[in-house]
Amino acid sequence: MSDSILSVLNEERTFPPVHSTDANIDGMAAYQALCDRFTADFEGTWGELAREHLAWAHPFSRVLDESNAPFYRWFDDGMLNVSANCLDRHVEAGLGERFAIIWEGEDGEVRRISYRALLADVCRAANGLRALGVERGDRVVIYMPMIPEAAVAMLACSRIGATHSVVFGAFAAQALRDRLIDTGAKVVITADGGWRKGEVHALKPKVDEALKGEGVAVNKVVVVTHCNHPVDWVEGRDLDWYIMLEGQRESCPPEPLPAEHPLFILYTSGSTGKPKGIVHSTGGYLLWARLTMLWSFDFHPGRDLFWCTADIGWITGHTYSVYGPLACGGTTMMYEGVPTYPDPGRMWRICAHHKVSIFYTAPTAIRALIKAGDEWPARHNLSSLRVLGTVGEPINPEAWIWYHEVIGGGRCPIVDTWWQTETGGHMISPLPFATTLKPGSASKPLPGISAQVLDVDGNAVRDGGGLLALTRPWPSMLRGIWGDDRRYVDTYWHRFGGHYYFAGDGARIDSDGDFWIMGRVDDVLNVSGHRLGTMEIESALVSHPAVAEAAVVGRPDEVKGEAIFAFVVLKQAGGADLKDALRDHVAEEIGPIAKPDEIRFAHGLPKTRSGKIMRRLLRDIAAGNTIHQDVSTLEDAAVVEALHKDAC
Ligand code: WT7
Repeated sequence: MSDSILSVLNEERTFPPVHSTDANIDGMAAYQALCDRFTADFEGTWGELAREHLAWAHPFSRVLDESNAPFYRWFDDGMLNVSANCLDRHVEAGLGERFAIIWEGEDGEVRRISYRALLADVCRAANGLRALGVERGDRVVIYMPMIPEAAVAMLACSRIGATHSVVFGAFAAQALRDRLIDTGAKVVITADGGWRKGEVHALKPKVDEALKGEGVAVNKVVVVTHCNHPVDWVEGRDLDWYIMLEGQRESCPPEPLPAEHPLFILYTSGSTGKPKGIVHSTGGYLLWARLTMLWSFDFHPGRDLFWCTADIGWITGHTYSVYGPLACGGTTMMYEGVPTYPDPGRMWRICAHHKVSIFYTAPTAIRALIKAGDEWPARHNLSSLRVLGTVGEPINPEAWIWYHEVIGGGRCPIVDTWWQTETGGHMISPLPFATTLKPGSASKPLPGISAQVLDVDGNAVRDGGGLLALTRPWPSMLRGIWGDDRRYVDTYWHRFGGHYYFAGDGARIDSDGDFWIMGRVDDVLNVSGHRLGTMEIESALVSHPAVAEAAVVGRPDEVKGEAIFAFVVLKQAGGADLKDALRDHVAEEIGPIAKPDEIRFAHGLPKTRSGKIMRRLLRDIAAGNTIHQDVSTLEDAAVVEALHKDAC
């Protein structure tokens, strides 16, 4: 067991809730009242919230359709438009001059975009995409740095009913190509590049590379010039973003779409080699994006400046950098560059300068900033902060306490939000002005959410450990895996007989009913809060001509949570140069985040007699632990001895 898990198990500190005079949920009584509303009338309550919080083009008459479970449908005869909910209704309410986005570039440039201006840009982009032949139901891939145009592109797609799929800008050409093929996208929106540590990280060449060869349906590539970086141009296929917008009308009636219309597809890693295209809906997704902003963050639009540091390439960036804050009519902060550039004080400088009031980041970033030293936050006035959030992986109590003391000055509640790409928004989270906080615990399910810790037979566990499951459907749940209904059912619903959603995480529930997330129980790694499938990295490794076989496991890492450790069996002996080549090869296949931290060459891998790689054993070896495990099922016991050192 890693040290951080042990420290969570021993954690006993509690922090009673801070009082706030106008919190959206101002105490446990208000929380309980909301939960009781759901208990008394589950569908009725969701229906009321959906009518109250979203603007519908056509009202729905049905809340939840369970007839084809687990393919649940929400509000499905209602029609609405996401961009109209995120923009038009706020402008119509007189908030046109309020800032929707405050953006800071890595070089310090600042852009402040009002709701009125954002709406105009989104309309022009929507008209431009239509002029390129993009129609309702078409897929558009967005491969961009963190610039406002990325949000404009997402909202423009939603305005005309095109389903977007954002691909993280650090992903390699091959990963982009796989997603282009799987979505069948017609159009890619990209940029010449983005700024990373003062250098241009070029994107367009990776798009050109991804489009080579057969199998990709893309016929237009729209390019935002952001870095003035030279790009190769394919006549007839490539188009400048600003030229696309030129001459387009600043109005574009939002297309009313069925609530179940797919708003976006976002790929995430699973326990097989092929990433899954998680499909999210229009109505249910947006409702929960808005409600969780109000509940988990106590967001007050017009007063708060909310900053979620996640890239739009991840679900956190979708829900909490773009859709959630904008659905509320609030202001979202966007930062383009590396958080420690030009120095480790950058994030705190941004918070102080723009007066960020709600700050949301990942434990890995917090741990890296702890290492950088307390002098960096000390140089900046962080008194504007009032709520702090964390997401992506378990936060160790030491990091929690530092965040609370040093960043929050002991006065800001910390919300440790548990959720997944698949859940669309927070599922288990403290309420900042109601919950008694426990460092390392995500606290309780939000109102409307039914979460339980189950034993292997599916019985609820009280005061103990087990598997985390969601036992009732919720509006922002994934609607499936793009093009693979079978995998959707098998991955999430099969484990508990079709009744419950299996999250893939282990968790402990304590005697107060608080949840402590213990991490993945499947072959999925969590490296710096990013999800990577071990199989995905293994297939990248074996695609190298020198590799015969590979097994990838996680090794506990102080900063990243988990580091990537690869055992590699070579076809012929190789040396240190080959290790570098293999690391580069993985970066080319998937992206730099998937580069193994350590590669160990082996003569063979420990396997059971039935041929299954014994991953638990490899994890122990990678962590440098003594092996107490029973190796009697091992095919060749000598292999284990050899694995403790490099074979070549
Ligand atoms: C996995 C989902 C949801 C946005 C970021 C990651 C882990 C997420 C927490 C938390 C402990 C967490 C889980 C989950 N995770 N939040 N607060 N405490 N673990 O999204 O890439 O879909 O990964 O991240 O293991 O299953 P994702």
